[in-house]
Order: sequence, then structure tokens, then C-alpha cells
Amino acid sequence: MAPAKTSGAVIAVVSMALLSYLLSTYRSKLPLLRMRRCLLSKKIGNGLIDAIGNTPLIRINSLSEATGCEILAKAEFLNPGGSVKDRVAVKIIEEALGSGELVPGGVVTEGSAGSTAISLATVAPAYGCKCHVVIPDDVAIEKSQILEALGATVERVRPVSITHRDHYVNVARRRAMEANELASKERKSDGTDAKMLQQNNDREYGEMAKYSRGGFFADQFENLANFRAHYEATGPEIWEQTGRNLHAFVAAAGTGGTLAGISRFLQEKNPYIKCFLIDPPGSGLFNKVTRGVMYTKEEAEGRRLKNPFDTITEGIGINRLTKNFMMAELDGAFRGTDMEAVEMSRFLLRNDGLFVGSSSAMNCVGAVRVAKLMGPGHTIVTILCDSGMRHLSKFYDAQYLSQHGLTPSATGLEFLGLG
Ligand SMILES: Cc1ncc(COP(=O)(O)O)c(C=O)c1O
Repeated sequence: MAPAKTSGAVIAVVSMALLSYLLSTYRSKLPLLRMRRCLLSKKIGNGLIDAIGNTPLIRINSLSEATGCEILAKAEFLNPGGSVKDRVAVKIIEEALGSGELVPGGVVTEGSAGSTAISLATVAPAYGCKCHVVIPDDVAIEKSQILEALGATVERVRPVSITHRDHYVNVARRRAMEANELASKERKSDGTDAKMLQQNNDREYGEMAKYSRGGFFADQFENLANFRAHYEATGPEIWEQTGRNLHAFVAAAGTGGTLAGISRFLQEKNPYIKCFLIDPPGSGLFNKVTRGVMYTKEEAEGRRLKNPFDTITEGIGINRLTKNFMMAELDGAFRGTDMEAVEMSRFLLRNDGLFVGSSSAMNCVGAVRVAKLMGPGHTIVTILCDSGMRHLSKFYDAQYLSQHGLTPSATGLEFLGLG
């Protein structure tokens, strides 16, 4: 009986030890398991990319009360990269990675000094990619400083026409091609002395030699990933956040991706939802939507202002038809002036504490125009593209505005004919 007693005691001790070991490892892993459960239940976002999109839809109280409509706006300035373009940057990179046109370690190139470049520079590292931005050298220095701080390589080129091979957009396209050439040479060079290859590449490609894993030109104007970012996400979010009950959507257009993606999605869900463009001065889109041509007869005869983008608003207005804009489903268009956008931005600051950029202010001008057209009782949605923080040196600079005769003076919404 003694051996049986001994082995029973041994089993009991071993079981206790095992149990306490399991308990202690379970306890030590508990935070990790909880974290995983939270990730699965979406309480915790999985990295930066998960924090993009699903922005709040907020009621602009002042405009809603003044118009008798529900004026709602997607707070896109709350995206981590500070603008609606984060969605586009993610979609462009994910589609390119999915198709194999871009590989981790590769470089995304873009010719842009605006929000898209900042968003690409913000999200590229999350995909293990690099970002190369080409900008005209007359662009404010703080723009390239932001991009460089984000880790992008910034190439400043002299400003020339889009038809010139050295226009910044054409250079960006070429840089992606050069990176691909380089990658293909590296692939073919199996067995070649690595040091010698690097020396040759350095000599032949200079700065570009660091992009040996190939490149992809983001091409936000013509790449329909831009449209799809809004068709597949921003549009559905608006649809659900309004309880599938809205009457109109309005926004300005640069590439046209936002307006096209959202308008097409909403009109497919409910063809009675009216979608409108609000167009800044100097842009040809108003004419395109209302008359079917980019230029009126008078404008075509050379009476156009010297600078076709004769507006202080940024990122909106264009004089060519992009593939993205062509996807839009529109019921009409309005024109908005710079003065209205400036006044609107100050009105929103004073009444709602909303500090928004110039395109967002223009969108809100559009929302009021739609409210006046449709009358009280309608739900109208628009976009707050970015924050005023990006617009301190122009749109929010008193001296700059005064030089352009745009000093705001309204106390209410009288600039839009509302008392
Ligand atoms: C700040 C800002 N708002 C609005 C837009 C216009 O959006 P979309 O290009 O989707 O027409 C842009 C485009 O670059 C932008 O940078």
C-alpha cells in the first residue's frame, strides 16, 4: 500500500503545481487576451489604419437653426492625417498592394502639395512603404517641412505647365517608373556583387537608388481607387449614420473623388436623394454640370481671368474633367464665392466652435444654398474636409485676406441672404 500512497501524493502535488502554473500564466496573459477580445469587438483599433474613417456625423446647430433644415457634416478633419484624404491614401495603397503593383518596401509617388500628399506620407509607413512627393518649388516651405517631418522624400521642381514633361505630376509618374526599372534590374542581377550593383545604381539613379523595391504612382485625379474609397466607405457611413433618411448631399470637388463616390452610392440607395456640386471661382465644373461644357462662350473667347483657379480656397475647383469626377451622379450645381467661404468659416467658429478649412467652409455655403432651394424640413449632408489649422497663412490670416479684399464683416448669415 505504501507505494500507492506515495504515488497518490506525488500526483496530487504535481496536479497542484500544474494548476497553479496554468493559473499564473493565464493571469499573466489575461491583459493580452482581453486586448485581443477588445480588438475583435472593435473597442480598440488595430493600428493607425483602423483609426481612419468612421468619422462622426455632426449636426451643425447654427446652420440647422437658421435654415430649418438638419444640416449634418462628416467630421473628416478628425482622421489621423487631418483630412478626408486619409481614406483615399489607404485605398490607393491597399489596392496597389493587392494587385502587386506595389510591394512592401516599395515607394508611393505623388505630385501634390496638398492633403493627399500628407495622407500618403502618414499612412505609407503603416504598410511598410515609402513616400516620394514632388511639389512645385513655389509652394509654401511649411508644406514640404510637414512632409519631410512625416518621413517622405520631397522633391521640389520649378513650376511648369501640365503639358511639360517636368510638371510635378509628370515627374512623380516618372519617379515611380524609375523605381520599377531599378527593381527589375535588381531582380535580374542575382549573383552579381551586391556592392558593385549598389555603386552602379547610385551612379545611374542618384537619390532614386534607395527605391530598389519598385514604385507606384498614386495618381489621385485619375485613379478610381479614390472614387471607391468614398463609394465603399464614406457613402455607406453617411447612409447608416442618417438612419437611411436624408434628402440631399452637397460638396465641392478637386479630384471629384468625394463627390462622385458619395453621390453615386447615395443615389443607388435612393434615387430621390439630390446631389449637388458647390464650385469655387475659376473652376469650370459648374458650367460642366449645368450646361455640359467646361467653358462658357464668353470664357472660351479669352475673357477668363488670368489665373483659372482664381480662388483662395484650396484643394477644390478644377478646369479639366477627371475620371473620378466623371463617376458623379449630380442633380445640379451652385457657385460659391471666396467672400462667402471666408464669412462662413468665421460664422462657424463664432457659433459652433468649428475651426475648418476653406473647402469645408465652401461646402457649408453649399449646404445653406441647398437648404434655401429645398426649404425647411430637409436633411442635408456635407463634408468638413480638413481643419483650419492647415490654413493659417492664408484663409485665417487677416493681412492676407485684407490684401485680397476679403476681410470678413458679417455678424450672422446675411452674406447668404438669411437674416
Ligand atoms: C482640403 C481639401 N478639401 C477638399 C478636396 C476635394 O476633394 P476631392 O479631391 O475628393 O474632390 C481636397 C482635394 O484635394 C482637399 O485637399
